Amino acid sequence: MRTQVAIVGGGPSGLLLSHLLHRNGIDTIVLERKTKEYVLSRIRAGVLETGFVDLMREAKVADRMDKECMIHDGTVISYGNSQFRIDFKELTGSHVVVYGQTEVTRDLYEARDAMDGKIVFNTEGVTIHDADTVTPYVTYNVSGAEHRIDCDFVAGCDGFHGVSRNTIPLSVRREYEKLYPFGWLGILSETPPVHDELIYSGSDRGFALCSMRNQNLSRYYIQCPLSDTPSDWTDAAFWQELKRRIPEEFAEKLISGPSIEKSIAPLRSFVTEPMRWGRLFLCGDAAHIVPPTGAKGLNTAASDVHYLNNGLLQFYQEGNSEGIDRYSEKALARIWKAERFSWAATKLLHNFPDQNAFDLKIQQADVDFLSDNREARSVFAQNYVGLPY
Ligand code: APR
Ligand code: PHB
Repeated sequence: MRTQVAIVGGGPSGLLLSHLLHRNGIDTIVLERKTKEYVLSRIRAGVLETGFVDLMREAKVADRMDKECMIHDGTVISYGNSQFRIDFKELTGSHVVVYGQTEVTRDLYEARDAMDGKIVFNTEGVTIHDADTVTPYVTYNVSGAEHRIDCDFVAGCDGFHGVSRNTIPLSVRREYEKLYPFGWLGILSETPPVHDELIYSGSDRGFALCSMRNQNLSRYYIQCPLSDTPSDWTDAAFWQELKRRIPEEFAEKLISGPSIEKSIAPLRSFVTEPMRWGRLFLCGDAAHIVPPTGAKGLNTAASDVHYLNNGLLQFYQEGNSEGIDRYSEKALARIWKAERFSWAATKLLHNFPDQNAFDLKIQQADVDFLSDNREARSVFAQNYVGLPY
């Protein structure tokens, strides 16, 4: 079998890249180790930068999103007894779009199916060969049968636990990582959101986030010890703790209900460099991870897809390799700014086990400066709505 771009991973990165290339006449095959149902069962974040929305519109996959999404012009930040709003619209002229990543992935799968996009599910043993030559190929196994795909390029869109990153030799790869000493316990509940915008709240009991998917589907998180498991938390215990971590005016009117999903995610900052080795390009979570505080996971995957798609189109349509030659440099420049913002937002609002009285005073001063200083709020807003591609 032969294709122009073999894509490992059928999550948002792989699907969006595949669709954008296919719409421009470039042949791709997506290899996904799970089933479509499994991929769609993953609960992930739901705040999209306008850059991502534009990319979905470019791919002609944004119709349902444009109909069903919510536009958020700001967010509430709460810390201890104070709270304030960061007005994205007033500070940047822009906004964010609230639309679940699950829905993004669903829309992308529907679009791929409508164009007879080639996606192979339940692949096992995907292996990338000769990536550092001009004749790379990928082998994999499905239902006991071995397959080989010869290609021009391989896009590693297989997430943090995929095989692509490790295809790049350790002698070439540089990895940067920061592990946080806590996780986020998240629940999904078929209840109306407590507020019409997100609430990021730091308290002496720990961080909490009030988010949403639609007017009757809310997403809430509380910071929790890494030793916790979802079964350690009854719904009642979760709601009680959440209400103790958010401003009273919201706690009083919060409508709780049974959780339809409950999970704990550890927080990590991670970047691998370079994001290209020969004819292999890493994209999305395969190359970088951010703590979810800044809602940058999907949005950094989107800018990777933007740069890689444009670089590959330039190669195929103009015979010019400048875009793919500069892919890693351009993608990493934006990724590191998202890593910084996500780290700073996490440091601003979470309780750290090793924090002493001085650290807490510094954290309070950070929040006060953000609350009181328009330029500081503008910097936060520019990062949150998304820095330019
Ligand atoms: N072979 C084939 N597919 C694989 C392999 C493999 N060896 N390893 C992983 N995959 C698949 C996973 O099953 C998953 O569907 O690759 C896909 C990677 O998708 P994501 O992890 O969602 O990563 P990405 O597409 O880059 O999306 C980034 O989505 O999942 C969120 O937190 C993530 O917000 C971030 C965004
Ligand atoms: C979510 O809705 O899941 C969400 C929103 C904002 C974040 C993280 C998660 O920063």
